[in-house]
Amino acid sequence: MTPTIAPSILAGDFANLQKEIEMINNSSADWVHVDVMDGVFVPNISLGIPVVEAVKRHAKKPLDVHLMIVQPEKYVEAFHKAGAEIISVHIEACSHLHRNIQQIKALGCKAGVAVNPHTPVASLSEIIQDLDLVCIMSVNPGFGGQKFIERTYHKVKELKQMIRESGSKALIEIDGGVNLTNAPALLEAGADVLVAGNFVFASPNPKEVIERLKSLAVAR
Ligand code: DX5
Ligand code: ZN
Repeated sequence: MTPTIAPSILAGDFANLQKEIEMINNSSADWVHVDVMDGVFVPNISLGIPVVEAVKRHAKKPLDVHLMIVQPEKYVEAFHKAGAEIISVHIEACSHLHRNIQQIKALGCKAGVAVNPHTPVASLSEIIQDLDLVCIMSVNPGFGGQKFIERTYHKVKELKQMIRESGSKALIEIDGGVNLTNAPALLEAGADVLVAGNFVFASPNPKEVIERLKSLAVAR
């Protein structure tokens, strides 16, 4: 099995997004990871619906939209219409997570839940069977280019066990500080999807970096 690779355009050149998307189109990446920040749930503002629409016009791969926003129920339909195929909301931002997930699925999107570094995996036990994706944050959300939090491996193993035991089909995505040093152990622990921002875009050869992540063997 090969990992799913989702380059995060947050680390790309926002004045040249078309070029960045074309690089992703021509690479072995699988998804385009799009980070939406509202300045409330996280201490940063990134991009919104018009940018997702613009990205969609060029992207040949599914848009994996990571909503770091409060009250996502107000906006998921607009993100779906803008072209999101996969939509993840944060467990910490949702008082009615079950309703939020059903709303995303009713739109025909894949539904994901993202969990901050301090949030225990066990808090997903009653929703795991409804999920297509769990995004484990391996940094505190809000910024690209941060240091990977080592405790993530333990969370991935615990989540993998929960997924196996529950019969859930959820994929495990890792987001934050992913690179070729930590990726093999993340895949070994049970990760299915690797998001990579700075590791890809700060490289002189982003396509090659994507290819190297993609060609990591998953012994499963
Ligand atoms: C952080 C974002 C990440 C970020 C990853 O809030 O959710 O997707 O862009 O970037 P790197 O790989 O640079 O940590
Ligand atoms: Zn993200």
